[in-house]
Amino acid sequence: MQKVDKVVLAYSGGLDTSIILKWLKNNYDCEVVCMTADLGQGEEMDGIEEKALKTGAVKAYVEDLREEFVRDYVFPMFRANALYEGRYLLGTAIARPLISKRMVEIAEMEGAQAVSHGATGKGNDQVRFELATMALNPRLRTIAPWREWELKSRTDLINFAQENDIPIPVSRTKPWSIDANLLHTSFEGGELEDPWNAPGPDCYRNITPPERCPDEPEEITIDFEAGDPIAINSVKYSPAALLAKLNELGGRHGIGRIDMVENRFVGMKSRGVYETPGGTILAAAHRDLEGLCMDREMMHLRDTLIPRYAEMVYYGYWFSPEREALQAMIDKSQEKVTGTVRVKLYKGNCVPLGRKSPFSLYNPELATFEEDYVYDQADAAGFIKLVGLRLKGRMQQSKWGGKEIEDSCE
Ligand code: ARG
Repeated sequence: MQKVDKVVLAYSGGLDTSIILKWLKNNYDCEVVCMTADLGQGEEMDGIEEKALKTGAVKAYVEDLREEFVRDYVFPMFRANALYEGRYLLGTAIARPLISKRMVEIAEMEGAQAVSHGATGKGNDQVRFELATMALNPRLRTIAPWREWELKSRTDLINFAQENDIPIPVSRTKPWSIDANLLHTSFEGGELEDPWNAPGPDCYRNITPPERCPDEPEEITIDFEAGDPIAINSVKYSPAALLAKLNELGGRHGIGRIDMVENRFVGMKSRGVYETPGGTILAAAHRDLEGLCMDREMMHLRDTLIPRYAEMVYYGYWFSPEREALQAMIDKSQEKVTGTVRVKLYKGNCVPLGRKSPFSLYNPELATFEEDYVYDQADAAGFIKLVGLRLKGRMQQSKWGGKEIEDSCE
């Protein structure tokens, strides 16, 4: 196998990736270039470059990817109303392809032969990082230390850190694994490993428990253009700022917590708790506007494809021909999804109150219960007669052996 001289590592600055940095240098006798992506995880980015260099990196990139993340990954996925297994808004899954894309770009700039990540051998994230890397640059190798090294327990990791002068954060009891970005915060492991255990108070980060939410509901409007949100209460925001604003609103009103057992791509079931405050409001408002502007058959066809699209994102097939083709179809379906939705936020609920659009397909003349001049109610009789024909036929067949079909058709 080709010698690895230089590796680009996805570095968070935490204990695990600091250990990986050292381990790569020791084991591969290579240079390590660190890449830290700011996806709005809210952790301190200041000082991370120094920390990487101090731990032995030859170079450290700190990349602000927040706008790109929301504009080119989160929003396209929300155009599709993607939901994995009917509930998970895919907050971690959608971030991985972007991190990989930036790693590949840096690897190409730096002339590195490999990239490396801190995902374990049991999760989905390794698959997502590596499939994206393969799709973008098939020449690059991925080194996944968790699948290679001899460090088997937390104690092993702590010992390794001590031997290599890596500072160990005091709060390192590590009750669970957290992954955060502008779209969501996820909690897995620790006390959550028993699916019957209710999540404790530490499992809340950005969302107020509904019991402690304001007693006054808050009403907001969201403007959409071609399926993407552009303004809140008529104030325009950049994609990342808009999602941050919705997070603040949703968090305050207790919106967007999901606790579920899901099927991982690698085969096991796992229990996760997710906080997706802004995304939950966005999904509800977007779906509501589609009710007004989207053609019936278009919507029904698209709806059959949501589980497939969500699966592609979850499995790590973002950069794949099938996801791209489906995206083109979905984007086409969104051309007229422009307008405004009014929603009420109240104690964990996000309730649409009204919607309007220049492309509304809602025809009050057709829908009215009052007398109208465009719809002839008598037409409905023939319509029902024809669509019900086979239903009558089936019962007649089983009851009377097919006789009387003609008679009963009147
Ligand atoms: N189960 C979720 C997913 O697969 C969340 C994963 C969280 N990842 C993590 N490294 N903590 O998308």
